[in-house]
Amino acid sequence: MTERASKQPHDPATGSGAESGSGTDGGRAPVIAIDGPSGTGKGTIAAGLARDLGWHVLDSGALYRCIGLAAERAGLDLDNADAVGDLARRVEIRFDSDRVLLDGDDVSSEIRTAAGGVRASRVAVHPPVRSALLKLQRAAVRPPGLIADGRDMGSNVFPDAVLKIYLEATPEERAKRRYKQLKEKGLDANLADLDKELRERDALDRGREHSPLVVADGAVIIDSTDLSIEQVLARALSEAGRALGAARADAGQE
Ligand code: DC
Repeated sequence: MTERASKQPHDPATGSGAESGSGTDGGRAPVIAIDGPSGTGKGTIAAGLARDLGWHVLDSGALYRCIGLAAERAGLDLDNADAVGDLARRVEIRFDSDRVLLDGDDVSSEIRTAAGGVRASRVAVHPPVRSALLKLQRAAVRPPGLIADGRDMGSNVFPDAVLKIYLEATPEERAKRRYKQLKEKGLDANLADLDKELRERDALDRGREHSPLVVADGAVIIDSTDLSIEQVLARALSEAGRALGAARADAGQE
């Protein structure tokens, strides 16, 4: 859905240029799903894989962050499933290079704050919000392939993904990484607050009734606590090579 690996603008709201399906057969575009809790480096690994494979990227968390922000801007109660669900069906979210546009407004920085993560997690518990975003996410699949990162990419949105990766790391390490990330972007950050927010968000994302964060069936688990980004990326690339090779071999036998 993001255009990091793409030359042509793509509108996820209309699904223009999108293909459905996530296998490698029948000319459909393959999907690699990357899930895990906040701060495990999913976005960085997704971008690295996309760069290497020349594929597109879907940052599904940005969609939930946009809905949280839109709901707040509209003065809605974030716990009101119907009201936030209605809003999720109406807003237009577009990715343009590294910019995220919410109804045409560049919200790239605003959605990235710690408060933006908490808002996203709160609106993400609502089934009407999840079903509105499900369509946008599936519409993002297109050739040559899509790397989708989030919480339920492998378990719910793309169950046929050619490869499912579940990234994890200790909460302490994740809070440190998020702190560094925010500081590097010149944003305000406090390590103790981040640690608390991250644990609260983990509890919400894991404990919710609909599409909770789980290790998807068949997912490869990578614990990145003591690994560098380069090491995690190398592991993800080798898993991708293996999975794509196996899928091609399967397709050749059909
Ligand atoms: O990946 P992120 O930190 O930008 O995601 C923000 C929140 O959005 C996350 O805490 C839960 C929600 N989310 C979700 O429920 N399902 C996804 N596929 C992605 C994000």
